[in-house]
Amino acid sequence: MNNFKWWQTGIIYQIYPRSFQDSNNDGIGDIPGIIKRLDYLKEIGIKTIWLSPFYPSPMHDFGYDVSDYRDVHPIFGTMQDFDRLLKKIHEHDMKLIIDLIPNHTSSEHKWFKESRKSSNNPYRDYYIWKDPKSNGKEPNNWLSYFGGAAWEFDKKTEQYYLHQFLKEQPDLNYQNPKVLTEMLKIMDFWLAKGVDGFRVDVICNMWKHPKFPNHPINAKWNGKVPIGKYVLKYTVNQPGTHKIVKAMRKVVDKYSDRVLIGETYLPYEELLEYYGNNDECHMPFNFHLLELKWKASSIKKKVNDYEKILPEGCWPSYALGNHDNKRIASKVGTEKQARIAAMLLLTLRGTPTVYYGDEIAMKNVKIPKNMIQDPPALKQPEIADIVGRDPERTPMQWDKTANAGFSDNGVKTWLPLAKNFKTNNVKSLEANKKSILALFKALAKLRSKNCCLNSGEYKYVPTLQKDIFAFIRFVDDEKLLIILNFGSKKINLDLSKKISGQAKILLSSDMIQKGNVNMSKITILPNLGLVIKIS
Ligand code: GLC
Repeated sequence: MNNFKWWQTGIIYQIYPRSFQDSNNDGIGDIPGIIKRLDYLKEIGIKTIWLSPFYPSPMHDFGYDVSDYRDVHPIFGTMQDFDRLLKKIHEHDMKLIIDLIPNHTSSEHKWFKESRKSSNNPYRDYYIWKDPKSNGKEPNNWLSYFGGAAWEFDKKTEQYYLHQFLKEQPDLNYQNPKVLTEMLKIMDFWLAKGVDGFRVDVICNMWKHPKFPNHPINAKWNGKVPIGKYVLKYTVNQPGTHKIVKAMRKVVDKYSDRVLIGETYLPYEELLEYYGNNDECHMPFNFHLLELKWKASSIKKKVNDYEKILPEGCWPSYALGNHDNKRIASKVGTEKQARIAAMLLLTLRGTPTVYYGDEIAMKNVKIPKNMIQDPPALKQPEIADIVGRDPERTPMQWDKTANAGFSDNGVKTWLPLAKNFKTNNVKSLEANKKSILALFKALAKLRSKNCCLNSGEYKYVPTLQKDIFAFIRFVDDEKLLIILNFGSKKINLDLSKKISGQAKILLSSDMIQKGNVNMSKITILPNLGLVIKIS
């Protein structure tokens, strides 16, 4: 275990700062609020916090539109608050990873304000400006992820600028070397402060094809989300991206023991490229499990495919939820399956990233139409249910008091609370020794105590049962067998020909099952997961 790094063995916890803990009763979470909750995070076994953007921003995309990369938005606090957070996290023997948003700035960023002033402004080439087509239309058919064209016409200079997200999020131009230099200096600024690494936003889209060709039509488009109409052949994963990532890694490597993580929604072959030759990301995210239907057969196939394809020295990283995707507890449907999800994430080989609230099985919250805030949902009301991300961003449920302990009584929280917060909250789950939170803590503890779980090998165990995913984690003489029943039927397994030794249940997802196991007849109750020690 000693040879493994903190970012390999420890659990990462994503905090969406608007929704974690409000300390000044404006209905929006903030940094002092996070500081208040560090003991909780330590207690549940978190090693690393990934903090979503807290920078000054007009908040068109809730902070993913940065207007100043070297400061803190007053909604979240001050730079002193940030420094205090970092210090406290380190005092808790934890680490802090921050979000870096290099693909685009806010249109309120001073670079863009300059850039749009005139075509010979020194900042003009910080962004991507193109002439209209002869008919006045957009330079090509590229679409924005959030609806509409990816080009905005600017009357002043009669050119279009590129924005892959909102028009308030103009894309930076990495063909201009000055842009990369600026971004690397920003990284330096935060690394020198002592942050432990970055999660790099939209890492695969930073480099665009220099000729800006039209995207080809996607024959497999299901007709729902407009951007799916095209194959994003010339914006996603362009070869030029890797030069940028390598430069970023160099900055990170100037400091000891820091980490670079990438947001990589890519097929495996392309995802692997983001490890580089150990000179790009330490860990590109593997989001495949999050994108799949919740079925043992698909999940085990994806894990096995990744295990097979991943070269030695490349460390896996899994997530089952984040601020852009449906909550895992809603996806899997039942609390029992949410427990299986927790057991899966915390026992696979690779670094798990947990989205805030998933440890208490928070669910997507239905947002009344008049309270919708997320730009893709506002811009495309007809598909708000598909593209809206507010439902997974609601305030953390701490206790049963009004506003769930997130804000004080009487405050209007920026997004509504889940209806079930009176029962589904940290405090009441803490009081129940068999709750999903208790399970989470037990899993985190097992993971930190057992090298085989946090850094051991992975071996798939075939069972011929479509609802069962079974695998072994092992190192030296330590061996754990994990069996997850994704189905609603009781299953008996005979693994005596495959696994020998004494077997004893260390942990079950219902926190009830205990005792020795007979390898020739292992009974796995419906919707149950087991961690079994083999000795
Ligand atoms: C990333 C973020 C998402 C944001 C987008 C634009 O995908 O995770 O929340 O809207 O980038 O910055």
